[in-house]
Amino acid sequence: MIKIYAPASIGNVGVGFDILGAAITPIDGTLLGDCVSIKSSNTFQLNCYGNFSTHLPSDITKHITWKAWNWFNKKTNKKKPISITLEKNMPIGSGLGSSASSIVASVLAFNYFYKTKLTTIELIKLMGTLEGSISGGIHYDNVAPCYLGGLQLITNDIQYPIQKLPVFKNWLWIIAWPGITVSTSSARNILPLHYSQEECVQNSRNLSTFIHALYTQKSELAIRFMKDTIAEPYRILLIKKFLYIKKTIKKLGALTCNISGSGPTLFSICLNISIANKVKNWLEKNYIKNNQGFVHICKIDQLGARKIRI
Ligand code: HSE
Repeated sequence: MIKIYAPASIGNVGVGFDILGAAITPIDGTLLGDCVSIKSSNTFQLNCYGNFSTHLPSDITKHITWKAWNWFNKKTNKKKPISITLEKNMPIGSGLGSSASSIVASVLAFNYFYKTKLTTIELIKLMGTLEGSISGGIHYDNVAPCYLGGLQLITNDIQYPIQKLPVFKNWLWIIAWPGITVSTSSARNILPLHYSQEECVQNSRNLSTFIHALYTQKSELAIRFMKDTIAEPYRILLIKKFLYIKKTIKKLGALTCNISGSGPTLFSICLNISIANKVKNWLEKNYIKNNQGFVHICKIDQLGARKIRI
């Protein structure tokens, strides 16, 4: 029996639409991510449980874990009976890489079970393709950090398709999911197909300065350039009172307020725990819409997906 845990992630990281992603983990030890366990069995079984398992499609063949299993089953042609358990701890359509978490945990578990020995690049490609099949476009900014941990830059280069970036060790990442969903494909569909020269130049400037600031460890510079001109200006229309929320938490001492992935989760960076707690409390009172929503203070998860003890 093997069990794989795959952490939550923040796609785009406020400045790198589709090309930056960070794996995160709550500092209070909460396991914020899906788990997949598998063992040999006499019959094929796919069982789901966990807080968000009731939101999964009832047609098993539309299930991302089933799609991943189907890929390995065809590839190996072994028809080995298998019992799969998905622990769905991540809310679907939250902007926290929920589908990536299920995909990464499933693919790694099957790669181990079927002894397929795919390379890191082959695994990433497969994960991206599966992600594309459910979110309306292949993007690696959730699957790459979820699999490999840390802050990842997606280059799409043949030899070095992803690169791990340095981070600021003292940054605390507050994430707030209101308890409602936004589908990634609809949040992608509202984006323009064309951008002006000025928007492109500004976006290049923001992203390159941010990366420079990471390598030179200039935290204030990085914060000032954590701005997106490609997705966020359009997506804030999907988030009620976004500008008011941003202004208010900045008054409390938060350094940033951005959309995590395609939303509606917001993330904010704080430098000390007392400010982080104030921001967390404010978001809990003012951004959470029901008892499913949550706010966590997180740090970067450098480990990525991993085997966990059963
Ligand atoms: N880069 C993707 C998007 C992330 O913004 O659509 C989705 O979580």
